[in-house]
Amino acid sequence: MEPINQRKMDHIHIVSEGGDIDRRRYYFDRIHLTHRALPELNLAEVDPSSKFMGKDLSFPLIISSMTGGADGELVKINRNLALAAEAEGVAFAVGSQRVFLSDDAARESFELRKYAPNALLLGNLGAVQLNYELGFADCEAVLDILGADGLYLHLNPLQEAVQPEGDTDFSSLRSKIAVIVQTLKQPVVVKEVGAGISPEDVEHLLAAGVKYIDIAGCGGTSWSRVESHRSDEPELGELFSDWGIPTPLALRAMKPYRHEMKMIASGGVRSGIDMVKSMILGASLCGVARPFLNPARESADAVREVIRRLRREFTTTMFLLGAGRIDDIKENEGLILDEYWN
Ligand SMILES: Cc1cc2nc3c(=O)[nH]c(=O)nc-3n(C[C@H](O)[C@H](O)[C@H](O)COP(=O)(O)O)c2cc1C
Repeated sequence: MEPINQRKMDHIHIVSEGGDIDRRRYYFDRIHLTHRALPELNLAEVDPSSKFMGKDLSFPLIISSMTGGADGELVKINRNLALAAEAEGVAFAVGSQRVFLSDDAARESFELRKYAPNALLLGNLGAVQLNYELGFADCEAVLDILGADGLYLHLNPLQEAVQPEGDTDFSSLRSKIAVIVQTLKQPVVVKEVGAGISPEDVEHLLAAGVKYIDIAGCGGTSWSRVESHRSDEPELGELFSDWGIPTPLALRAMKPYRHEMKMIASGGVRSGIDMVKSMILGASLCGVARPFLNPARESADAVREVIRRLRREFTTTMFLLGAGRIDDIKENEGLILDEYWN
């Protein structure tokens, strides 16, 4: 098996079977919302639908980037996620597509438009690869194979630093990201993978022309911890396993830039309540990765069940806040009763 394919399979097994990958810090639980005993709404009429990148969503959810590759298990995971996203009216992003650029056998795992003709689909590449082997033509190629509406470029300096075979030259990346953003036909979303994006980084990304940022903060899947399971020297990954900016704090810090970009909240989003809190803190869309992995190994129906659970929780939270539509919760910090961070 190609080394990248092997790494993908290692990740799936560690995340899927390892019990300690989520940091379980529950940062979102530190925010209390104001319950309304008199919501003055009919629950049946609460409308969680929204739009993102011009596409209609049944509620503001994206299945965050996870995988793709030559192995039949990876093909099945992506097919099940694509089928479920289409059926439930949510967005879906595939995992890094670099594997397809070096191994044509990975093609099938990214040929997903046939399963999701209408869904918002996003491709994915590691931004650091712009310093190694990838360029503009590769970005176009991965979007073409997927029939994608946009491209995620992920930033993962922590993961690469603790990974045995990590690509750690993150120098001069801003200008290379700017070229991709300004030349690509489709929109580019810059994301982290679970350590968050700081306001200083957002300023540089805005200067590069980026209009979409996915916080992917800390509180959920710990890539440092995942990599520590693959390493002969696990201590480094373990030490940094809680490193990063907690997702709700990262969202809050973005307040001055909210109107210059669209923000996606992810990293430890585990319920519809977390999603509503993210929208209150300015997100336009919420991403969830790890909770979809085991259902996707099973069936599209199992993935649909998780999506439906999240939608029910999201709608119930809106109802209990007296919010009938998405616009009633978006950036509405008046709905926060209290928060504690010490
Ligand atoms: C099995 C797995 C594989 C992942 N692979 C990628 C990837 O290839 N590219 C990427 O941008 N993020 C990747 N991620 C990171 C997620 O997209 C997400 O940012 C992170 O896991 C935090 O979300 P969570 O706490 O809901 O899992 C992966 C996550 C998981 C669980």
